[in-house]
Amino acid sequence: MHRTDSALWPATLDHLRLDSPDPQALARFYRDVLGMAPAVLSEDLVLAQGPGRRLLLGRGERGHHPFSAWRIEHADQLAALRHRLEAAGVPLLQSPTPLFEPGAVAVRDPDGRLAVFGLPVQMGTAASAASTRAAALPARLQHAVVATTQLEPLRTFYADVLGFAVSDTVLKSQEHEPPGQAHVHFFRADPEHHSLAVFTGTSARHDHHCYETTCWNDLRDWLDYLGDLDIAPWWGPGRHGPGHNLFFMIKDPDGNNIEISAELEVMTRVQPPRQWPNSRRMYNHWGTSWVRA
Ligand SMILES: [Fe+2]
Repeated sequence: MHRTDSALWPATLDHLRLDSPDPQALARFYRDVLGMAPAVLSEDLVLAQGPGRRLLLGRGERGHHPFSAWRIEHADQLAALRHRLEAAGVPLLQSPTPLFEPGAVAVRDPDGRLAVFGLPVQMGTAASAASTRAAALPARLQHAVVATTQLEPLRTFYADVLGFAVSDTVLKSQEHEPPGQAHVHFFRADPEHHSLAVFTGTSARHDHHCYETTCWNDLRDWLDYLGDLDIAPWWGPGRHGPGHNLFFMIKDPDGNNIEISAELEVMTRVQPPRQWPNSRRMYNHWGTSWVRA
């Protein structure tokens, strides 16, 4: 059961940082395809933002995802979260993001990735230099998913220490030893089914990030638009089991997976975690699954 004394609720994914050997080239893709206008913050850092969506693209190793940042509702909530983490003995680090006000809280998860919580600041102007057709399509940054080799320490950190609620757990299939253990955890800190998911892989790495739309027709409009750009989804459209959302996925030039989603399930704060057997239909009720390592 989710601890309702946590100061985390509600917290909503505001942005994440992805690294690239050429962040400006990556920013051009997000400008042209996702309708996100680039703003060069420094030689090594570009802000890409459009309506409801913003990313920091930094210079670094391709596909590296150094932090995710959740926005908190108000200063009192942030102070309560800081107090709770200090009381639990969690080291608080300097915030790495210029997109939150001073005083944001940053903590390091067992894989070394930072989770940042703060009050957002707006920077630059949205969409003026981006594709106007893409900028007009709904796509609110909604969740990120990572792979890990230490699933349960991450569950403990995000759920027990930080206070995320576990929405769903997918169990390992019969081919895995031992079957029945957790394979994927989905975490929420507001009513949407997950703003973070973590699954067991062969290494700790970024897997994908996702933009939520308003309805199924938005996926049609995105696919019509992407078709005109000669960009085909490499997975989907389909419907996930956990979260019950409609989805498709494309890749950016660095190979990062981008998901466009609709109809993501909402849950109450106290709704207990559920379990799913691992199956093709769990990953995609309509078609093929995507088995990651
Ligand atoms: Fe996803």
